[in-house]
Amino acid sequence: MRWLENAVLKGLHKLDAETAHRMTVLALKSGLLPGGGADVDPRLSVKLWDLTFPNPLGMAAGFDKNGEVPDALLNLGFGFTEVGSVTPRPQPGNPKPRVFRLPGDQGVINRYGFNNEGHEALRRRLNARARLTGIVGINVGANKDAEDRVADYVAGIYEFADMASYFTVNISSPNTPGLRDLQARSALAELLTGVITARDECTRKLGRHVPVLLKIAPDVADEDLNDIVEEVLAKNVEGLIVSNTTIDREGLSGAGPASEAGGLSGRPLFRKSTIMLARARKLAGPDLPIIGVGGIDSAETAWIKITAGADLLQLYSSLVFKGPALVEEIVTGLAAKLDEHGLGSLREARDVNVEAWASEAA
Ligand code: FNR
Repeated sequence: MRWLENAVLKGLHKLDAETAHRMTVLALKSGLLPGGGADVDPRLSVKLWDLTFPNPLGMAAGFDKNGEVPDALLNLGFGFTEVGSVTPRPQPGNPKPRVFRLPGDQGVINRYGFNNEGHEALRRRLNARARLTGIVGINVGANKDAEDRVADYVAGIYEFADMASYFTVNISSPNTPGLRDLQARSALAELLTGVITARDECTRKLGRHVPVLLKIAPDVADEDLNDIVEEVLAKNVEGLIVSNTTIDREGLSGAGPASEAGGLSGRPLFRKSTIMLARARKLAGPDLPIIGVGGIDSAETAWIKITAGADLLQLYSSLVFKGPALVEEIVTGLAAKLDEHGLGSLREARDVNVEAWASEAA
């Protein structure tokens, strides 16, 4: 089957990146892609909050913005998936073209700008899921023209508190002007108070507690990271996702559309996001769950993220270059890593390289 996948990938890369993405979602919808992940090593399961993740590797936000294919993604072998970012009202996003591949660097630049069909459409799709098992997080955002951004995030909490496995509060997209300003301390405190108050009210009303995670940019300065982690701990936010795409262009070969505006992801983001992850882990201490994202493209890079402080992992860009067989390759590769190191769980490997990564020059 690998040759077939390679042929399909080659064909997709002849299309512009957005069309290729749309075709992939349609292929997943129609069940054309093979399933995977049938027999997952039980040592890979991760228990966090009230959730048991069958394996630590998740589909990152942005691939399935409108909740069209959560079950197909879980079927590929992902341990969880995250839909969104979703905004209260539908919005078209930025003009096309707005996503670019950098094959020489194994990177992607996107400036989609939260194109999505809005709360109502996502709700309808998730309600219609035939199979309601599996962990599906909902990543909430704010409309570009929102008058009150905090109110948009809070609306997301009320809308989906009965169905989300967890919430991600995404304040780190570089493609909505001013959005990342919410990472500044006073704005963040106000946002987190609003979100956690809404979530707590839903917990009381619905008898269902949905953990809230904050997703941050890899471009925040050290002092700001310190403030962010302090606020997260002070407001009892249940976890961090490190990180979103970067506006930095360091380390790129310069080939291809490297100078396009937007957020850079994939291999060129690996080092920066891993340093940020280790620093966040050091500041947060051992108990705060952290999802490590950015440039994971192999079992080796997945393992490095865990040793740099991640409880769970997500990826997106490497799928563009390596195809869906990568999911199973990473999951089985992580089990092999446990064998190699004589460990019984990923938790035993977590943090062993936090100091080394945290002290790398960013
Ligand atoms: C993203 N990402 C993203 N993140 C988010 O929180 N909401 C979103 O809507 C999107 N949209 C999006 C679109 C595209 C085309 C890409 C490539 C990425 C960021 C994504 O979830 C992840 O944090 C980064 O891409 C880093 O991981 P990878 O791609 O290096 O594995």
